[in-house]
Amino acid sequence: MDARSASPDIVICNNREALARDAAYRFTALALQAISEGRPFRVALSGGSTPRLLYAQLAAPPFQRAIDWSRVEIFFGDERAVPPDAPDSNYRMARDALLAHLPVPAEQIHRMPAEQPDLDAAAQDYEQTLRRAFAPAPGEWPRFDLILLGMGPDGHCASLFPGRPALLETRRLVVATEPGLAPFVPRLTLTFPVINHSAHVLFLIAGMDKAHTVAHMLLRDLPADQLPVLHVSPEEGNVTYLLDREAALLVPSVMDTAGAVGSME
Ligand code: 6PG
Repeated sequence: MDARSASPDIVICNNREALARDAAYRFTALALQAISEGRPFRVALSGGSTPRLLYAQLAAPPFQRAIDWSRVEIFFGDERAVPPDAPDSNYRMARDALLAHLPVPAEQIHRMPAEQPDLDAAAQDYEQTLRRAFAPAPGEWPRFDLILLGMGPDGHCASLFPGRPALLETRRLVVATEPGLAPFVPRLTLTFPVINHSAHVLFLIAGMDKAHTVAHMLLRDLPADQLPVLHVSPEEGNVTYLLDREAALLVPSVMDTAGAVGSME
């Protein structure tokens, strides 16, 4: 998989388990590629429920043994403004499903400090964490090897929600934001410039409740302000959408009408 930008790949998997397995192979391939090139594999994990099955795959053989986890740096795409042990913490989910089972050095796991009272200061802290880890040249952006994203039924990804000012951020790497949906917990999120400078973006999208949103995404028949995933378009990177059959329910009809690129697995 090279990092030249190409049209997004759409891969339809039979079910959530197949989606997780496909994602585990892709994750592993990208990790082995980075490490073989003599650099750490830097990945931003997604929250939500869909990635949980991927994390369980990575935390067990064969994937657990395939990657030299001492060469992996873990970041997060977004976090809720809750303590790291809170039930709805993205960090807690990733820790319990993945990180607790892997020998990633603690200093290479970069949690978003979203429990801080001043969320904007926390965003700035995490921005410094990214700058220290990636050491981008002045005026350059950190370039992740892989950013994992989910998509909500409202078309949000990370914590970039419809109609929010964060969608239009062009300078900051990380911002504090408010979701437009319950339980209205404030969030920290990577911004689209960071996402769009990633070498690879892998969407994990499952569930019937995403089918209409996937159709709108493929047809691009809504403004990006209403469908934030449309902002994801890496300049020199690849986007792959892994869909389960439920989320892809309307894809055949969309592909007939829109001629969208896709493959079935
Ligand atoms: C979060 C995620 C969010 C998630 C989507 C999809 O903090 O919840 O970052 O963007 O990926 O809401 O969630 P599911 O995978 O549970 O459908």
